[in-house]
Amino acid sequence: MTVTASRIDRIEAGDLQGMGRTDIDDVLDYVHVPTAHLPGYLELYDRYLRQRWNVNELDFSVDRADWTDRMTEESRQSFLAIASGFHHGERQVEAELAPLLFGIPEDYKVFLTSHLEDEARHTVFFDRFYRDVVGIQGDGIMDILDASWPYIQETFVGPFGLLSYLTDDLRLHPYDKHIQMRYATTYMIWIEGVLALSVMKITLNYARDFKVLPAYYTGFTATCRDEARHVQGGMRFVRQLLDEDPAYVKDIHDTLRTLLTMAGARSGIVYYEPLGWSEDRVKALFADQLSKKLAMVGVSLPPEFEEMLSMVKPTLAGG
Ligand SMILES: [Fe+2]
Ligand SMILES: [Fe+2]
Repeated sequence: MTVTASRIDRIEAGDLQGMGRTDIDDVLDYVHVPTAHLPGYLELYDRYLRQRWNVNELDFSVDRADWTDRMTEESRQSFLAIASGFHHGERQVEAELAPLLFGIPEDYKVFLTSHLEDEARHTVFFDRFYRDVVGIQGDGIMDILDASWPYIQETFVGPFGLLSYLTDDLRLHPYDKHIQMRYATTYMIWIEGVLALSVMKITLNYARDFKVLPAYYTGFTATCRDEARHVQGGMRFVRQLLDEDPAYVKDIHDTLRTLLTMAGARSGIVYYEPLGWSEDRVKALFADQLSKKLAMVGVSLPPEFEEMLSMVKPTLAGG
């Protein structure tokens, strides 16, 4: 653990303005605290009630000036490639969470309603960013999503395509625990726990180090704290399923095998270097985030996974 107790208290209790002064790296560490005891669902729900923030309180006017006057064309393009993966990612995890509600433990159902509301708010956060900072115009949420779609990278398709497929399965068989486990592995472990948290770090480190986009930094750091609750709730659920029957670990392994195989196949251009990251550094970040999540649920990977992990190409998306 690298984050100190007083910093955890600040992250726990901070309001929206406080999130603007919080270091993103501390929030990422906060996800894995405490590793020995995951908070209960109702404890997470209580945190939600205290940590909920108003997306319409953010004022993007300084961000707008930074975007046009202080950022280079290259860094704007990289930023858009990543932000669009989140814009569509947040929308998809919002729209595809509901089928999980039917077959989960009663306390988790209460917390999941807050998780769904968070994802809707994250979708609005990016809607506002594209309107107020990038300058896209349109009527509803879908107009802006359509306008940001051309920036989406091909790495989006694999994990979010699998999530769509598993959402359909879950809608048809909401009580099937194998499907629940595959869905939770894709959604909470991989998309939220590895992709979102890693890629958040890249854009937020950039905003922090170059002192640009203060409202984006504030809102997206608050988003990261929301993700901490989602990941912790998901990890608790995965651990509960494993306690019921350790054989469900096969569903985790099979799903990760699919996700890692897809993550190793990519052509196309590298977009994070203008934001100050090398491919090796991003790969190491992904591997570190995955191993921390697996440690939280008490799962180890067979040796064959090592090579797959070394092949992983950075994905510019999250939820
Ligand atoms: Fe989330
Ligand atoms: Fe989210």
